[in-house]
Amino acid sequence: MNPTMSFTVLRRLASPAKAAVQRLSVSQSSPFNTKATALVAPSKVTRPLIPTARVSFAQTLSPSFWARQQGYSTESKGDSKETFVNQDDKSSVNVIDGKLHLRWIDGVTSRFHSFWLRDHCHCPECYHSVTKQRLVNTFNIPRDIKPKSITLGSEGIKVIWDNDNHESNYSYHWLQRHSYDPKIMDPYKPEGAAKITWDNSIASNLPEVAYKDVMETDKGLAEWLNNIHIYGFSYVSGVPVSTEATEALSRRITFIRETHYGGFWDFTSDLGHGDTAYTDIPLGAHTDTTYFTDPVGLQMFHLLYHDGEGGHNLLVDGFHCAKVLKEKYPQSYKTLSEIGVPSHSAGDKATHIIPSPRRNPILNHDSVTNELVQIRFNNDDRSTLDHLDPDQVGAFYSALFDWNKVLTDEKNMLWTKFQPGRVLIFDNWRCLHGRSGFTGKRRMCGTYTNWDDYRSRWRTLNNSADQLAEEL
Ligand SMILES: [Fe+2]
Ligand SMILES: [Zn+2]
Repeated sequence: MNPTMSFTVLRRLASPAKAAVQRLSVSQSSPFNTKATALVAPSKVTRPLIPTARVSFAQTLSPSFWARQQGYSTESKGDSKETFVNQDDKSSVNVIDGKLHLRWIDGVTSRFHSFWLRDHCHCPECYHSVTKQRLVNTFNIPRDIKPKSITLGSEGIKVIWDNDNHESNYSYHWLQRHSYDPKIMDPYKPEGAAKITWDNSIASNLPEVAYKDVMETDKGLAEWLNNIHIYGFSYVSGVPVSTEATEALSRRITFIRETHYGGFWDFTSDLGHGDTAYTDIPLGAHTDTTYFTDPVGLQMFHLLYHDGEGGHNLLVDGFHCAKVLKEKYPQSYKTLSEIGVPSHSAGDKATHIIPSPRRNPILNHDSVTNELVQIRFNNDDRSTLDHLDPDQVGAFYSALFDWNKVLTDEKNMLWTKFQPGRVLIFDNWRCLHGRSGFTGKRRMCGTYTNWDDYRSRWRTLNNSADQLAEEL
């Protein structure tokens, strides 16, 4: 997502002196041989097997990958295979200290615990191919299980286990994708399609799709969701100016997220709910529902009617701002990634919502890859900061000021005017939104969508079933 995230490559090399090498029968035949196709020469292998640093997927992805993500065919599609392992060299695979060592063609060796491999067997007995659920009883596998034999095939390895002669097959692609010692970044990871961060220069080329295309074709829907994936937002033009059409558009992605504000909203500035969204005052850049354990994923807005002035819409790319913050104020970035912020929603009489955990950082990262995955920021919904150590108070406010400086930098603020017939949808885990004050009567409608369900829809429309199955 962001080029600045670091990625740790773990290497726990076994000491050759201490390692007990188990004798194995390694043969060249394999159940995978029947599927073998022409191999490309190692020099043509373009994907980096071992990254030393996490860089943006936009930088690492090959054009063919990007094309495949888009659903387009590529020149090499179907007529070439990557070489993973030198099958002719029996020393490519070994069992040392209970771990299977597999040496890739680039010389790097992945180590897998025998128990881990047996536990991840994907044969029909151990894994349900339709439900994608584990069938093997993990707790019946001997903790000291070892391979009795390993066969190197053209596409993967076959392992016969010592306790019951069970046969497991693992494709090289899957083994590399899930290698944990060392971790090997896989540029084919579906989540890794290039995201493009932006400042307000994007105004000249706003991502937009036509309502008709979204409603009538899966290609149109995929393109719409891909816009949201890449830019964090997208417009939809030519939408009938009605609540029915807007709701149908939202449901094209998935079901609507119901909250204490209801399901489908149709609101005016009459303080219908105890929240500033239901007023006409200006709102600074924020993400919604920071007070939920699981903040809403997408927000959709459609202006149905406005007879006054103002009410411009503000959109800020939180991922772009995080990148700027990290470059300009690295200590503040660290602070906002570490210090949790409590929040609440308690404006309606029967509502007192607080998240669990109670406090969440403004910048949230994947704990393994350290990728930035979520911005949670609404200064208005912040609860009392009574959990900070005394020396954190100053640091937190300094970081908050730096963050605010970046968010309110004019360069980073995209101001647009809502128009009936033109729907805006954006990723609430990435983009912050706000608005200028307005006069007159204004009627808006829209929805929230769950993050997980939106991502699921994006994945299934933009990746092959094989690619997705391999992720698991
Ligand atoms: Fe909001
Ligand atoms: Zn099995």
